[in-house]
Amino acid sequence: MQDKANKRHILVTMALPYANGPIHLGHILEATQTDIWVRFQRLKGEDCVYVCADDTHGTAIMLRAENEGISPETLIARVQEEHERDYEKFNIDFSYFHSTNSPENKRLVQAIYLKLKENGHISRRTISQLFDPEKNLFLADRFIKGTCPKCKTPDQYGDNCENCNATYSPADLIDPRSTLSGATPVERESEHHFFKLPEFTQMLKKWTRSGTLQDQVANKLNEWLEGGLQEWDISRDAPYFGFEIPEAPGKYFYVWLDAPVGYMASFEALCANTDYQFDDYWRPGNNTELYHFIGKDIVNFHTLFWPAVLESTGYRTPTGVFVHGFVTINGQKMSKSRGTFINAEDYLAHLDPEYLRYYFAAKLSSAVDDLDLNLDDFVARVNSDLVGKVVNIASRCAGFINKGFAGQLAQNNSEPALIAEFQAAKDEIAALYEAREYSKALRLIMSLADKANQYIADKAPWVIAKTDKQSPEIQEICSTGLNLFRMLIVYLKPVIPTMAQRVETFLSVPPLVWDSVDTTLNGHTIGDFVPLITRIDPADVAAMMETVTASQANAKTQEEPKAEPVDSPLAKEAICEEIQFPDFAKVDMRIAKIINAEHVEGADKLLRITLDLGLDAQGNPTIRNVFSGIKSAYDPATLVNRLTVVVANLAPRKMKFGMSEGMVLAAGPGGSDIFLLEPDNGAQPGMRVM
Ligand code: 2FM
Ligand code: ZN
Repeated sequence: MQDKANKRHILVTMALPYANGPIHLGHILEATQTDIWVRFQRLKGEDCVYVCADDTHGTAIMLRAENEGISPETLIARVQEEHERDYEKFNIDFSYFHSTNSPENKRLVQAIYLKLKENGHISRRTISQLFDPEKNLFLADRFIKGTCPKCKTPDQYGDNCENCNATYSPADLIDPRSTLSGATPVERESEHHFFKLPEFTQMLKKWTRSGTLQDQVANKLNEWLEGGLQEWDISRDAPYFGFEIPEAPGKYFYVWLDAPVGYMASFEALCANTDYQFDDYWRPGNNTELYHFIGKDIVNFHTLFWPAVLESTGYRTPTGVFVHGFVTINGQKMSKSRGTFINAEDYLAHLDPEYLRYYFAAKLSSAVDDLDLNLDDFVARVNSDLVGKVVNIASRCAGFINKGFAGQLAQNNSEPALIAEFQAAKDEIAALYEAREYSKALRLIMSLADKANQYIADKAPWVIAKTDKQSPEIQEICSTGLNLFRMLIVYLKPVIPTMAQRVETFLSVPPLVWDSVDTTLNGHTIGDFVPLITRIDPADVAAMMETVTASQANAKTQEEPKAEPVDSPLAKEAICEEIQFPDFAKVDMRIAKIINAEHVEGADKLLRITLDLGLDAQGNPTIRNVFSGIKSAYDPATLVNRLTVVVANLAPRKMKFGMSEGMVLAAGPGGSDIFLLEPDNGAQPGMRVM
């Protein structure tokens, strides 16, 4: 790697995988996105450290170890080995991979807690929770099932009903049962420790708007911040696999408190063996950058709790938090019951990891959108781009140079304009990688590959070779072709590092770096052509899916709950599964007339809107109050007397400013671009929208 003056000093993390399950393609998407970014920085000569760890604590891991008859420590050690093996095969180039169950993490999280306490940011109070009297442990909502209090569907989880979508507290379930023992839970009190998150509201409002986040994420956070933050319960009662809270015997840190501290712990472990200094990267005022790559389901932890904890304890806040969407397979959510839950190991048994790195990159942007792995498109795209376009250039040129010229490239560039065009793309491609717009970067690179192929096709060295295999013209054409190929490989190296290495061997050059495109190979002797990558055989994809489907044939019809599920609206909104008509028919959308609209004191985004939904069955007017986040787009005075569409059967929701009794429908990305749905004149309040 080159040594660069004024290089950036960057610390990058990706979300720590839970130690209670294998690495799957969702993890690989995140690892690929992060790894490409890290490799790109390193290729440019920046100092870029990339740390990760296994996320090892919590009830789920404790119970799994118990089921397997082993200690949690044995379980997490085995899983960590499997995780590291899978990431390595996908060429994820960590600087350090650690564990949250480490001495560094224990010391750091305890010190952080004591500091939070010293700063007055911890409160304690007794709460009542459901308790399993047989297993002797408090039950998180996902470990309780019962009959929905509203629609009476049996076998529903403790927080919401999959049939009618009602949300409730587990104590409201009819005939509740612990999923762990089958026992009827009892209510029990216990003292919990809370982090006073609301005290950071102003700080977070500023931080989330400081350019650290994607707009889509910042907008969503604004809604949460407007809705009012709650204190965060950071403690769990024994038995719990985790770290004990200092001065609070029997109380443990909730896994989500020590998980992000794991980023620090992993970096600290790296510092122990290198010249990196912990404080340079974690204390404010140093010229270093910190980025977290995460999925959209864990945004609240990384953009609310985590920056607030860091701020309170005198650490720096992240420079950026980059959020990506979920992987879908052929348009469907990854699901064991559908046989589409692909583990890294299943993939690796059949296919080359670089295919997937390329495909993910070809579809990744900086947005929070989900990414579909369409298996037919995957085969077509990789074969057409990597084999048909890129490798084709080298395979067309190498033979002529090796056979006719003993491997020696021409002394001069016969096509300086074409070479210059490839070099000129460098900054644009770099800017696209930097901005995580990988799909755009690859499109640009493939358009250059098309040009290189066109050039070779136009010059047709094979035609010249029919009369003179050693014509200097052939040497010039093929040398140009190989120089263009070399530049394409530099541009692709963050995505397909293994293939790039094979190219380095074939071209007989030292490891390529970003600035390698500024020079060309002249008079240089290349090595023998080696196969760089083979076409994907669709039969291998089919075989992989067969393995996956067969291993999941007996999967429960319901997905296992995530180890520590989180309620992230961002996660829910983008995945819209196909629904059946009866589901749609449950939504009661009505025409409503806005009879009053006003600002809400203290709310940045909300308007209080009073709606007339026409007459009910008894002939009485139906009046509803709703809070709607459309303040940035509408002056309330202009809304009065307008018609709109409202979801009338949405259960009333208690918000910071009062009850909201329905939802007004609007479209648009946010800010001043929010458009209230307005029916044509002629529609009357109360009419059902079909
Ligand atoms: O959602 C998850 O898979 C968590 N294990 C991620 C933790 S990220 C960080 F905070 F440690
Ligand atoms: Zn229900």
